[in-house]
Amino acid sequence: LELIVGIDIGGTSTKFGLVDTTGKVRIHSSIATENPNIEGYITELAHAVRQAKDSLDEPVEFLGIGVGAPNANYKKGTIEDAPNLPWQGTIPLASLLEDEFNVSVKLTNDANAAAMGEMMFGGAKGMQDFIAITLGTGLGSGFVANGQLIQGHDGHAGELGHIAYKIGGGRLCKCGKKGCLETYVSATGLKRTVYKLLADHHMDSELKRYSFDDLNTKMVADAANNGDIVAKEAFEYTGKVLGAKLADAVGHTSPEAIFIMGGLAKAGDLIFKPTIKHFEKNLLNVYQGKIKILPSELDSTHTPIIGAASLILEDIENGKSVP
Ligand code: BGC
Ligand code: NA
Ligand code: ZN
Repeated sequence: LELIVGIDIGGTSTKFGLVDTTGKVRIHSSIATENPNIEGYITELAHAVRQAKDSLDEPVEFLGIGVGAPNANYKKGTIEDAPNLPWQGTIPLASLLEDEFNVSVKLTNDANAAAMGEMMFGGAKGMQDFIAITLGTGLGSGFVANGQLIQGHDGHAGELGHIAYKIGGGRLCKCGKKGCLETYVSATGLKRTVYKLLADHHMDSELKRYSFDDLNTKMVADAANNGDIVAKEAFEYTGKVLGAKLADAVGHTSPEAIFIMGGLAKAGDLIFKPTIKHFEKNLLNVYQGKIKILPSELDSTHTPIIGAASLILEDIENGKSVP
């Protein structure tokens, strides 16, 4: 059985799957990303991948490894100063994995990978122009224009997480700047908003009993669905900011649709409703009513894995660099 390893490195966990050439995830698992020692991390990851491989009852051959990661440089195969990852500086991730597995490794930005996955196997099939937004620890984006994923001059295209929402101030971002969009719109941004609301308004809320580290999107979503005012307001605000900034983003490529995925997207209407409302409100008239905001058609957590694997599939289809 010929499979591709698709890996999605996130701020909290690293998810991976063994993906077949039709884009189906045959088995998936994850490890914590937290290991600050990159060699140690690679060893753990390799162990988990081999374990998954051995648990399938057929003999498996890896065709290659595709990786999506924050701050990944597609052209160099490196991760560079990722704000939400435990490794500083430039990490030659592709070559580290190549040494470990002896197959070709391709690396791209996690959200760019998600865009690829959506295009090859999800709701963006056949679309020429769309944007993929991932909402997890950070906010990632991938742009497909004229049928092509935009990589950019230095391979870092699609970094909407760090565009300014507040100019000259605002929340401190892990990247070192202030006011970045992801400090407001992401799983972490949502939590920061909850805490801000609790501090500012002394409102009664069931979220008061959680510490920042314990709180997660699911808890805020459950509270909102129970009518908790702070939780509802936090989603409303997050969607408002997201909608407005997506309306801005449309001006770059005139997309047909925007796909929103990742942990925060699982909150469903709580996030989609205010986002769509404020998106329409802020759109230039020529775009109004024409652009769809959609959830990923793939299982949201699998989209980046499939997308990462598709980096290798693409090469196979183009007949190059297959071991
Ligand atoms: C990183 C992006 C990444 C996003 C989602 C941001 O902080 O800068 O490269 O796509 O988080 O993980
Ligand atoms: Na990107
Ligand atoms: Zn930032």
